[in-house]
Amino acid sequence: MRVLDLGCGSGQLSLRIAPLVHEVLAVDLSEVMIELLEQNAARAGITNIEGRAIPIEHLRIPEATIDLVVSNYALHHLRDKDKTLAVKQVSGWLREGGHLVIGDMMFGRGGDARDREIITSKLSVMLKKGPGGWWRIAKNAGRYLFRFQERPISMRAWMTLFEEAGFIDVTATAVVSEAAVVRGTKPQR
Ligand SMILES: C[S@@+](CC[C@H](N)C(=O)[O-])C[C@H]1O[C@@H](n2cnc3c(N)ncnc32)[C@H](O)[C@@H]1O
Repeated sequence: MRVLDLGCGSGQLSLRIAPLVHEVLAVDLSEVMIELLEQNAARAGITNIEGRAIPIEHLRIPEATIDLVVSNYALHHLRDKDKTLAVKQVSGWLREGGHLVIGDMMFGRGGDARDREIITSKLSVMLKKGPGGWWRIAKNAGRYLFRFQERPISMRAWMTLFEEAGFIDVTATAVVSEAAVVRGTKPQR
């Protein structure tokens, strides 16, 4: 398999996947992260990871050349229109029968019961921390409500992006707190 890891960081997914597959292309906008990934790979004796420092939004991959695309806790950084575009592009990069698996913080701004549960539990943890926690509430309210840096969307919204891009067998699994995994398969014609 040829695997693409979007927003790979220092390689938490890539380093585990590499021993199981032919090749991993690991992409991150941060050159520092790609250097760390390469150091970690070298230390582990892994030679089949290619690190590439480039924003996902600028990434170009030949059509139908990848079997599996994974991403962990990275895509919530993208603007919503770039999330839509990324899922569409991934569908082009995948071979027929290939898979897209995204793990990320997934919640909306209070539109459903899961959102409200996540927001309430985060608020209550931070409130208990006193002034330091209150400051974090103010900071995070800015980041999430005004959507700079952190732009999570709900599990349902991710599923819709997958379905609109033509993925089939789309499933979403809540993991813990705000973490969830959405996966889908590119159909065989
Ligand atoms: C929370 S870290 C997760 C890293 C890794 N996937 C993991 O599971 O530990 C998010 C990563 O996404 C990267 N990132 C954020 N926005 C990005 C973008 N537009 N293009 C590529 N990488 C991005 C960051 O540089 C960072 O390394």
